[in-house]
Amino acid sequence: MSDPTRLPAWQSLGQHHAQLGATTIAELFAADPDRFRNFSARFGDLVLDYSKNRISDVTLSLLFDLAREAGLDQARADLFAGKPVNNTENRPALHMALRAQAAMRDKPLVFAAAGVAVAPDVTQELDHMFGFAQEVRLGAFLGATGKRLQHVVNIGIGGSDLGPALVVDALRPDIDGRMVLDFVSNVDGAHLDAVLARTDPETTLFIIASKTFTTAETMANARAARKWLAAKLGEAAVDRHFVAVSTNIEAVRAFGIDPQRMFRFWDWVGGRYSLWSAIGLSIVLAIGPAKFRDLLAGAADMDRHFLEAPLQENLPVILGLLQVWHRNFCGHATQAILPYAQDLWRLPAYLQQLEMESNGKSVTRDGGPVTWETSPVIWGQAGTNGQHAFHQMLHQGTEPVPCDFILAARDRSSLPAQHQMLFANGLAQSAALAFGRSAADVAAAMRAAGQDGAVIERLVPHRSFAGNRPSTTIVLPVLDAYHLGALIALYEHKVFVAATIWGINPFDQWGVELGKELANALLAGSDAPADSSTAGLMALYDAAARRR
Ligand code: F6P
Repeated sequence: MSDPTRLPAWQSLGQHHAQLGATTIAELFAADPDRFRNFSARFGDLVLDYSKNRISDVTLSLLFDLAREAGLDQARADLFAGKPVNNTENRPALHMALRAQAAMRDKPLVFAAAGVAVAPDVTQELDHMFGFAQEVRLGAFLGATGKRLQHVVNIGIGGSDLGPALVVDALRPDIDGRMVLDFVSNVDGAHLDAVLARTDPETTLFIIASKTFTTAETMANARAARKWLAAKLGEAAVDRHFVAVSTNIEAVRAFGIDPQRMFRFWDWVGGRYSLWSAIGLSIVLAIGPAKFRDLLAGAADMDRHFLEAPLQENLPVILGLLQVWHRNFCGHATQAILPYAQDLWRLPAYLQQLEMESNGKSVTRDGGPVTWETSPVIWGQAGTNGQHAFHQMLHQGTEPVPCDFILAARDRSSLPAQHQMLFANGLAQSAALAFGRSAADVAAAMRAAGQDGAVIERLVPHRSFAGNRPSTTIVLPVLDAYHLGALIALYEHKVFVAATIWGINPFDQWGVELGKELANALLAGSDAPADSSTAGLMALYDAAARRR
């Protein structure tokens, strides 16, 4: 069943949205003094508060019906059973297998790809990665000139960059003080230049992270870094300063990295789901194996929760269904991710790939056209910075934007008073969005402040807030490895839930291919007729290059 709009629950939700009519979030709160308790869910001490959305218990029960009618139970069972849910590439999506062993329980989930248990491979590669990382961290594995390796430069892009970069920044307080990490992703030489300018070749380890080991940007940066290092320390030094993370052993060997210094993963791990694999090597170098295990354990516990919790208590299910409600019934085209945690500043960019590369699709799993909306535009940045940039539009713009606020109850900085300010600001924003400020309140406040009637009349429209703008708040007890793992896995499964309702495959990304081909053709100076715009712009570049 790939047309969700034909499902009875979809139809009912359409009618229900019309019936909900002008009911406001404020009225929903007024009608239910226990709304926070009734519209929030928990995963251990992580809380998902979805009460500030324009939904009633009828909305929720229809959304759960929609999940059942769209076959979420079966889809989830197929995912965890290692069925080829990525049907266009005939692959399972078993990122959960990378973390299954890490959760402390008698019976970890068991995963098999094409009938073959994957746990032995996962354990072996984890040990390989942990062993190497500890040698580097403890100074047993040294650079070619005998110095300790204390600077790690991860060269990768997309899933081979965004996940590790997110986690390394998010767990900043856990980083061994000696280690400095940089992430180079952009093919723009400015990116690598900037990092190499502060790099001491003798103390630096380059990780070439690429699932395919063919991604043009990564390979260009890898070759440039290798050339730079060989020029500084000699060709023989490359062996001590370059390692690879990939699924492609031949290409790694051809690049000149000994397969012993290659950390493997498998084609059943999608790029944007790969931080749990050897792609996390930079994370392990930064925070050590024990904390990396905590990260895996948080994600594994979220996997179990997604698999076993009833729909009504299931955080990924609730979050995914809310996205469908906002996108398909309320017509909200974008969604803001607002971490009130500076260390999570990369989360919006990370979720852009996770959500939009997964669910930015207009073809159903079986190749039919999609006639309903799929992924919203994901955007955002850390609070409170965003408040002084785009929150004006969130509060008074013409279109409501559903927001996810992500906060940590307990602080890890040295400035607890500032954490209190941060937390209060996050809550204030979601309350202002939901409840706004009426014209009457604004006028009363202005009168109390002694403003004169004409000024009040002129400014009231500008100073009032309609409110009624939806948001969801996730509170982690603390931003540590375990809860970060759980948070990321929560979003992974949320994306799967929405994809299941939309009838699309979230695990492929054919939409990135055409641009790669066209760029290659332009680079090769192909004679194929370019359109006049592309040809004209290319001529500008050629003229500038001639003047260089
Ligand atoms: O952007 C396309 C993509 O294939 C992503 O899905 C992937 O994460 C990224 O490129 C990098 O790919 P690789 O790890 O193979 O270099």
